[in-house]
Amino acid sequence: MSDVMTRALTKAGADGLHEAAAAARAGRGSPSSPSFYDDVGKYIGAVPAPVRSIVDYYRMDGSSSVLVLSGLRVDAAGCGRTPLSWQEALADARQEQEEAQLALLAALLGEPFAWHTIQHGRMVQNLVPMEKERTAQSGHGSVALEWHTEDGFHEQRCRYLLLLGIRNPDEVPTTVASIRGVDLSEGHRAVLVQPRFLIRPDPEHLRHLATVSPGSEALRRAREMHDHPEPVAILFGRPDDPHLRIDAPYTTPVPGDREAAEALAAVVEQLEVAQRDVVVREGDVLILDNYRVVHGRRAFEPRFDGTDRWLKRISVRGRTGSLVTGGSRVV
Ligand SMILES: [Fe+2]
Repeated sequence: MSDVMTRALTKAGADGLHEAAAAARAGRGSPSSPSFYDDVGKYIGAVPAPVRSIVDYYRMDGSSSVLVLSGLRVDAAGCGRTPLSWQEALADARQEQEEAQLALLAALLGEPFAWHTIQHGRMVQNLVPMEKERTAQSGHGSVALEWHTEDGFHEQRCRYLLLLGIRNPDEVPTTVASIRGVDLSEGHRAVLVQPRFLIRPDPEHLRHLATVSPGSEALRRAREMHDHPEPVAILFGRPDDPHLRIDAPYTTPVPGDREAAEALAAVVEQLEVAQRDVVVREGDVLILDNYRVVHGRRAFEPRFDGTDRWLKRISVRGRTGSLVTGGSRVV
């Protein structure tokens, strides 16, 4: 994939980010809470200029869909053993220093936010394999996670998704493909920009909501989106350099629309071809432009013994977007 930007922090850059994160924790508390991100500006200002300029360049130049930033200071031993579930990690403060570094990078890109239905609204989520969820299409499964844009069915999906590696000794790859890497005919492009496709929330999302928030407005809305999805376009934005939203297993053409079915098959095939592996190792941050890339994960064999792959995730709205629902950070 040609539009991956790879940068390694210098020791001074990594130390400076680490210090800024420590100061932010002292001033703002835990990065797992929404209040950490209020008035975080002065701590962002303390991030070393060379680190800020890497992230600013990625965001403003726009020629790279993916940024791999390596060399963050992660104390994997101090973080503890890989938790066996996201629930186990909810109140664990041992990774706050790592989370605060991720949080500052996220805040450089825009407005970090969380879903109150995902991991109890924790701003930084833990992605760990769970024995009960081996076959789940989620960050807790260990079967291949099919490619998708994050929350593709949802209008309020993130612009950027950041993943920080706490440990990944088996080098389990994340998969990434950019819309810029696909070769589509003009005819297919013309169809893909029209609202002739349905993207349903995945059943996992609905099941999770039904468990954690039965009777909630969020569940009612998600069911509505599942039962009566609004037709949407897969490509949008600039025709010569489009954005996309798609979730491979849950995207269908509007029933009976053969042209849409053909165009969908073409873009799916092209994105398959464009898939590349990226291993998020300890101290790496993978930043994805969720309007330009799809991502997934290869299948792997977890041991569930505290040594498995462990990533931290945070979602960001772009700077041009505003916080929804009256300025709440957890939606
Ligand atoms: Fe995802």
